[in-house]
Amino acid sequence: MNDNRNSFANIPDSSLSDRYAVFGHPINHSKSPRIHKLFAEQTGQNLAYSAQDVPADNFTAAADAFFSAGGKGLNCTVPLKELAWRYADRLSEAAEAAKAVNTLALTADGSILGENTDGTGLLNDLTANLQLNLPGTAILILGAGGACRGIVAPLLKQKPASLVIANRTPAKAHTIADDFNSLGAVDACGYDALAGRCFDLIINATAASLSDELPPLPAGLLAENGTCYDLAYANRPTAFVRWGLANGAAKSVDGLGMLVEQAAEAFYIWRGVRPATAPVIGLLDQERRETN
Ligand code: ATR
Repeated sequence: MNDNRNSFANIPDSSLSDRYAVFGHPINHSKSPRIHKLFAEQTGQNLAYSAQDVPADNFTAAADAFFSAGGKGLNCTVPLKELAWRYADRLSEAAEAAKAVNTLALTADGSILGENTDGTGLLNDLTANLQLNLPGTAILILGAGGACRGIVAPLLKQKPASLVIANRTPAKAHTIADDFNSLGAVDACGYDALAGRCFDLIINATAASLSDELPPLPAGLLAENGTCYDLAYANRPTAFVRWGLANGAAKSVDGLGMLVEQAAEAFYIWRGVRPATAPVIGLLDQERRETN
């Protein structure tokens, strides 16, 4: 027997790997290639996952080229989620409700399925990792952009006592509330109308974190033992995470857990295998602490 040939047999042939990618603009700081590589190693799946800088005006051509060349699935991030929603041949219920797609999957019949795993990712992080019990709680979402739209339906499914969307431009919050009111009661308001109110869970879905800013939040907004959750994530605590800690939150965290959880849902859709998320969240969290 040829020993050399035998040892080569154990090395996965990358030319045979199924190909996946994340498209976005900008994309150079994306953690998705790292996360999917860790998932693939953990589950023994042979796949390649790359990041591609794709501006909005090039999305359709880039997605067509990717799938024509045999690509199996895409993640789409800012600013491409609505374009991906339009691109899909068919949509899951979550993607339809969110009017946004973060996961495209080539299916057996050759059609492209559009999914949105952001809502499930957030809920998995809130309920499984942070051990929150959401039924009967008062929940506040700050911000009324695409990030808010993607999480309203899954939060309503948890049957909170109340769900309020507050936004700098109140009309945008009212539009989202109207769109989802058939699924459960949703209220909308501006930040000044929050005075005197109190919530068990406050989720920051504004883009303010990206510039280390905060919406104007009144004192007393967070209930005792309440939780603050920033959908954004960074190597250092965001302004909102710091606000939560300063306002007595029992837990005040950023969206690293949601990022890994939404990736795990996409991985499951593509590969039919569910990776363990806790070791990946733990590793990424440890690595970012070491960079500080
Ligand atoms: P995304 O798709 O990430 O949600 P978006 O659609 O641009 O991004 O929405 C950004 C959200 O952050 C909006 O709700 C925006 O408020 P407006 O609708 O009034 O523009 C909110 N936002 C951005 N910067 C903010 C800031 N400094 N303070 C408060 N809200 C802010």
